This record gives sequence, structure tokens and C-alpha cells, in this order.
Amino acid sequence: MDLWHCKRLRFFGLHLNSLGCKCVALVVIVLVLRAVLISPFAGFGGIEQSKLIFFRNNSLPQNLQLHIGKQKFLEVPQIIWGLNNQKIAFARACLTARFLNRTLLMPSLSASLFYKEIDLLQPISFDKVFQFERFNCLCKGFVQLSHFTNVSNRSDVLELQKGSGRKWTVEKDLDQLTQHSKPPYDEYETIRIVGKNPFLWHDHWPVKDYAKIFECLALVDELLKEADKVVSKIREIGRQARHKSEQPQNGLESESRLLQYVPYVAVHLRIEKDWMIHCKKLEQRFNISEICSSKEQIIERVGNIKGLNHPTVVYLAVADSLLEDNSILDGWKEGLLPFEKKKLGVLEIYQKHPYLFKSAIDYEVCSRSDVFVGNSFSTFSSLVVLDRTQKMINMGVSKQCGMDVRWPSYAYNLPGGLDGPCPWATNMSDSSLQAISYGSNHVSC
Ligand SMILES: *[C@@H]1O[C@H](CO)[C@@H](O)[C@H](O)[C@H]1NC(C)=O
Ligand SMILES: *[C@@H]1O[C@H](CO)[C@@H](O)[C@H](O)[C@H]1NC(C)=O
Ligand SMILES: *[C@@H]1O[C@H](CO)[C@@H](O)[C@H](O)[C@H]1NC(C)=O
Ligand SMILES: *[C@@H]1O[C@H](CO)[C@@H](O)[C@H](O)[C@H]1NC(C)=O
Ligand SMILES: *[C@@H]1O[C@H](CO)[C@@H](O)[C@H](O)[C@H]1NC(C)=O
Ligand SMILES: *[C@@H]1O[C@H](CO)[C@@H](O)[C@H](O)[C@H]1NC(C)=O
Repeated sequence: MDLWHCKRLRFFGLHLNSLGCKCVALVVIVLVLRAVLISPFAGFGGIEQSKLIFFRNNSLPQNLQLHIGKQKFLEVPQIIWGLNNQKIAFARACLTARFLNRTLLMPSLSASLFYKEIDLLQPISFDKVFQFERFNCLCKGFVQLSHFTNVSNRSDVLELQKGSGRKWTVEKDLDQLTQHSKPPYDEYETIRIVGKNPFLWHDHWPVKDYAKIFECLALVDELLKEADKVVSKIREIGRQARHKSEQPQNGLESESRLLQYVPYVAVHLRIEKDWMIHCKKLEQRFNISEICSSKEQIIERVGNIKGLNHPTVVYLAVADSLLEDNSILDGWKEGLLPFEKKKLGVLEIYQKHPYLFKSAIDYEVCSRSDVFVGNSFSTFSSLVVLDRTQKMINMGVSKQCGMDVRWPSYAYNLPGGLDGPCPWATNMSDSSLQAISYGSNHVSC
């Protein structure tokens, strides 16, 4: 019911959300309170008794926690690397907390993308990027986040060192976690995991659990507004192009055209130098040749997607280094209008933000596009597709591949029919996130 409630609010505007969540929380508080007060067990044992009195002695909402039972926490190391590595790492931390029956203490993300220089990683609090209250509202009953101020005894901490090295197997890792969910370890108020970034922890959870966490992640309003600006600019250009390409109409009709929904295509164009080095290495490691796509191949395959109405704006999500390379705007099929941030005139929206925010805005623009085309070996592309697949599942759509679905996605690095890209959807019944973390050519369509 909560999930439905939080979701519904999304349609009415984001500002209502936290308020709405609080109302639900209040109703829950009242129900719990009522249940406890009439419960025959209330005040039975000494602990219960003292809590109840303590509870009565204080104002209502802040002390709810004491009443429900002492909350236990999990603390994790700073989360680092690319936006999507950070999202996966965050989800893994959440699922670990869930496994240990603990609340995750809100972790730090990293605003910048320095791989080696730890001091340049610019820690940034989770709630500067994603909505904290909304996360807890949407994920209620699954996992919860808390602030450090909720920890009552900061010295009641058990440090848990994750094992490492070749001998530290998935099984050993799971054993360690299982042990720490039981006495005596479960009695510590906080378990602090030390060592590696959660992205590098062994994985024990199915794709659908990750999908559940990702669904609870909503960007903060400030970033959503920036993404809105970019998307409306794209649609406005598409609208003008359509208007121009049509016969002159009478006033009434052209007005209705102004209100018309204008679809766009987003292409996550990975052809920058860093990626090319990385993908060549992957091709060697996996002994396959379908990871690195050239600019020409991508342009050709996107041009062969069936069922696109022309003219259509194609938004190119590219690394900053490619913004100087005007050739990415050449060679597109007639009717496909390629734009990147610069040509779109939205560069200044991006430029005022650190790496993580830029990437989050681009992610949003790709995720909301009517047609998305990416590389199945990119984590960014894979998470966009997961998002879109999940959206379709939530809408009750059973078919997720091809052009006639609501949120079609394609992998340009894999050949589809008719010289087009390969239709792509996430297999939600996969037993681990491996495919998404490290890329795959199984696109389940
Ligand atoms: C209520 O709280 C006060 C201190 O805040 C304490 O002295 C008093 O004993 C409490 N009452 C009960 C019934 O516990
Ligand atoms: C999880 O913790 C809560 C209290 O925080 C407790 O009531 C519940 O029984 C625990 N569940 C498991 C499976 O340990
Ligand atoms: C403390 O925990 C309660 C219950 O989860 C929550 O409502 C409250 O917002 C938390 N406070 C902080 C500062 O995290
Ligand atoms: C806090 O935890 C430490 C370690 O478990 C313990 O020694 C100490 O007594 C606790 N303090 C309070 C006020 O409970
Ligand atoms: C790589 O794959 C090709 C066929 O796809 C095969 O002939 C070749 O032996 C493979 N090489 C290695 C090192 O596995
Ligand atoms: C999805 O994954 C499950 C479990 O690994 C597998 O059995 C199934 O065949 C996959 N479905 C598709 C369409 O790839």
C-alpha cells in the first residue's frame, strides 16, 4: 500500500511526496501505538515496560523507534567511481543491510571521478543526489536508510573486515554475513564494514532485488529540474522540425500540433578514447568482437531502426571530450537530427555541476527517451535499460522487446535484424547482477 501511495504521488508532483510519506508514517505510528497499547503483552517484560513509559514521557514521532525495538545499523565505506558503479554499490550496501536485518546509515557517494587519488574523491552525502525521505517511503518494508544522529551509542560498533583475494570465495563471504546476522554479533548497535568499495563486494542477490532498490532512487528536485530543462529543449526542437516539415496548416491545427507529444531517441554514444581502450581489452578477455562499435556502425544501425517517425531528434549522450568532435553530428540518416549538449544549447546547465550530477542528468534524459540505444557492455546503458524494463513491467506489459513496445531499447554493439541494432531488455529473473556490472552480450530479446 505504501508503495502504491508513494508512486501515485509521483504523478501529482514531487513536492507532495515527503509530506505524503510523513502522513502515511503518522498513520502507521498511530496504528502501531494502538496495537501496542491494547496488546496483552504490552508492559509484560521489564524492557517493554520501560520503553513504554519512556515513550509516553516524550513527544510522539521522535520516539517511535524506541518503541518498535532497538534499531541496528550498518555502516559502509565511501562509495566511489562512475554514477552507475555508485548506484550498484549503494544497492549492494542496502541489500547487505537487509540481509543483516539492519538499517543502512546514509553513505557518502563521490562527486568526482578520480580513480586513484582518494583525496580527490569529493565525498558527497547521498541526500544531495537522491531524495532521502522518498527512498524510505518507496522502499519501506524492504530496506531503510537512517542518519548517523539516530545512532544512540557511537562506541557500540563492530568492525567487519571483508575478506579479499582469490581464496575469499562467494561462499565464504556469504558465511561471514550469515554469522554476523546472529548472536553475538547481532547485538552490536552498529556493524561497520571496512575495506573495499561495496561495488567490489561479492554479490549474493538476484537482479529483481537490485531493481527494487533502483526504483526507490529518485533524484533530488534540483537535478530533476535540470533534466526537465534538457528534455523540454529536445522536444521543442523536435516540434519545430516537425512543424517545418509539414504542409502549412490552418491556425487551429497548428495549435494542436504545438501540444502534440514529440518523441525523441537517445543514444549513449561510447566512442571516446578511454572507452575504446577499455572495450578492446574486454574484447580480448572475452574473445568476442562485438563490444567496440565504431561511430559509423552506430550511426548506421540507429538509422535502420524500423518505425521511427521522421524527423526525430537523436540526443547523443557523450563524454565531454567528444563535444569538440563535430564529426559525431555528421552522417546521420535524413530525418534523424543529432544533437549533443553543446548543439542543444544546454552546456551551461551541465557545466555548473560536478561529474556525478552531470552523469545523473544524462542518465535521466536517456531513461525518459522514447527510444534508447546503448552499448550492452556499458554499465550506464545497462542500468538505463533495466530502468525502462522495470517501468514496462510495472505497467503490466509482458512484451518488452521491439519497436512496438512503450519504452523500446536497443544495443548498437549487437546486430539486430535488417541491419539495425539488437532489441534489448533486462532479464529480471537473472540470479545475479553480474551481467549488468560487467557487461554482456545476452540482451534477452
Ligand atoms: C519521564 O522523564 C523524566 C526525565 O525526562 C524522568 O525523570 C521521569 O522518571 C520519567 N517518567 C517516567 C514515568 O519514566
Ligand atoms: C529484525 O529486527 C527487528 C527489530 O529491529 C526484529 O523485530 C525482527 O525480528 C528481526 N528479524 C529477523 C529476521 O531477525
Ligand atoms: C531516525 O529514525 C526514524 C525512524 O526510522 C526516522 O523517522 C527519523 O527520521 C530518523 N532520524 C534521523 C535523523 O535519521
Ligand atoms: C556504548 O557501547 C560501549 C561498547 O559496547 C559500552 O561499553 C558502553 O557502556 C555503551 N554506553 C552506553 C551509554 O550504553
Ligand atoms: C576465440 O573465438 C574463436 C571463435 O569465435 C575461436 O576460434 C578461438 O579459438 C577463440 N580463441 C580463444 C583464445 O579462445
Ligand atoms: C532469464 O534468466 C533466467 C535465469 O538465469 C533464464 O532461465 C532465462 O532463460 C532467461 N531468459 C531470457 C529471455 O534470457
